[in-house]
Amino acid sequence: MKKTGSAGKWTLPALLPVALMMTITGCNREEAISFSQDVKPIIEKNCVACHQPGGKGYEASGFDMTSYADLMEGTKYGPMIIRGDSAGSNMLVLMEGRADPSISMPHGTMKPIAQPDIDTIRLWIDQGAKNN
Ligand code: HEC
Repeated sequence: MKKTGSAGKWTLPALLPVALMMTITGCNREEAISFSQDVKPIIEKNCVACHQPGGKGYEASGFDMTSYADLMEGTKYGPMIIRGDSAGSNMLVLMEGRADPSISMPHGTMKPIAQPDIDTIRLWIDQGAKNN
């Protein structure tokens, strides 16, 4: 089979408008997220009940979410939050239900977290997951 190469020629021009649109829409102002003001209350409301010593999430995974330091430490297998990389942060993967439903968080029968709360945590991670 002989390749003509014509498909390759069209790829870049076809993607340019898309890239441009993403640049424009991605440029809206971004507020700074605070760990203590914005992130901690969400975690305390949705996660800490199970993710503290004695809770079943902590007992199963070693993930204590009661303090900033504990949160950044992650589970017994490693960090769940990667500073500046929300897409690679497993905590967010689980909260968004992108992982297997059997381990999506909050666990079991609890309702998923509200989308604005997930967005807040995503932004906080992308801004460097600071202890602010
Ligand atoms: C009702 C209890 C409960 C709540 C609430 C809960 N978890 Fe969990 N969590 C668990 C259990 C149980 C496990 C162990 C899951 C397993 O290994 O099957 C776990 C494991 C995890 C893990 C580690 C997964 C892994 O790969 O080992 C993460 C990350 C996590 N939870 C994040 C959260 C976040 C974020 C919240 C709040 C949005 C939350 N959890 C709320 C019970 C809970």
